[in-house]
Amino acid sequence: MTKFLVVASGKGGVGKTTAAINLATALNGYGRDVILIDANLTTPNVGIYLGSSKIPVSFHDVVSGEKEITDSIYLHRNGLKVVPASISLKDQEKIDFDLLDKYILKLTGHADIIIIDSAAGLNQESLGAIRAGDEVIIITTPDLASVADALKTIKICEKNNKKIRGVIVNKVKQDDFEMAKENIEYILEHDVIALIPDDDRVRQSIYLKSPVTYSYPDSPSSVGFKKLAATLLGEKYVESIEKEDSMFDYVLKTIGLKP
Ligand SMILES: Nc1ncnc2c1ncn2[C@@H]1O[C@H](COP(=O)(O)OP(=O)(O)OP(=O)(O)O)[C@@H](O)[C@H]1O
Ligand SMILES: [Mg+2]
Repeated sequence: MTKFLVVASGKGGVGKTTAAINLATALNGYGRDVILIDANLTTPNVGIYLGSSKIPVSFHDVVSGEKEITDSIYLHRNGLKVVPASISLKDQEKIDFDLLDKYILKLTGHADIIIIDSAAGLNQESLGAIRAGDEVIIITTPDLASVADALKTIKICEKNNKKIRGVIVNKVKQDDFEMAKENIEYILEHDVIALIPDDDRVRQSIYLKSPVTYSYPDSPSSVGFKKLAATLLGEKYVESIEKEDSMFDYVLKTIGLKP
C-alpha cells in the first residue's frame, strides 16, 4: 500500500524542501521505494536543489491534464525518484489547486512511500498538498513566530481530519536564544520526532545539487534525517560502518575477533 506523507509548515523558509528531499533519500536508504513530489507549484525548489530544473515533463503538465504522472517521474543520481515542478512563471496559469490532491494521489501504487513537499502558509496550495496526505509532518524552527505559525497549520490539518505524525524542529543551534523541545511540544501538543541541527553542510549540498544525506552522510543534519527515517519506519538507526570503524575493524568484529 502506498503511504502519502506531507511535509508542511506555517512559516516559509523553515526547511520543508530540505527535509522532504533528505527524508525521502534516507527512507530510500532503508530500502523503501520512495517518490518525492514537489507540490509547491508556485515557488518550486525541489528541482533547483537537486539540479533538475530543466525537465521535459513537470508536475505542472500533469496538473493541467496534459501528461500522465508516470511521464513526470525522474531518477536522481542518488537513486531517488522525483516528480519535479516547473520553475517557469508561464506554467503557473495551469494550476487548479482544488484538484492538487487528486493529481498527487495518481502516484498510488507507484511506490511504497510518497513524500510531498508543500507550500508554506494556509492557502489553497498548501491545503491541496495536505489533503493528499495520509499523515502530515509539521516542520518548524525553534522560535516563537515559526512555532505559532506551525500551530495554525496543525489546527487546519486537524480540521481536515489529517493525522499529525509529529514535529521536526530544524536549524537547531542549541544556544540560549531558541525554544526548548519541551516548550515546543507543550504549545503544539504533538511530539517532536526529530531535532535537526543547523548545519552548513545543507547549504553546501544544495550547491552540489544533492541531498545532504547523500553528499555528507555523516554530517549532523544527515544523521538527524536518517534517525527520523528510522523512527518513521520503526527501525533501528544504523550508523554507517565507515564512520564507526575501518573496514578492517568491521571485518574483525563480524568474524568475532574484536569486541
Ligand atoms: N538544518 C539546516 N541547517 C542549515 N540550513 C538549513 C537547514 N535546513 C534548511 N536550511 C536552509 O534554509 C533555507 C530554506 O530551506 P528550505 O528551502 O528547505 O525551506 P522551505 O521551508 O522549503 O522554504 P519555502 O517555504 O520557501 O518553500 C535554505 O537556504 C536551506 O539551505
Ligand atoms: Mg520549499
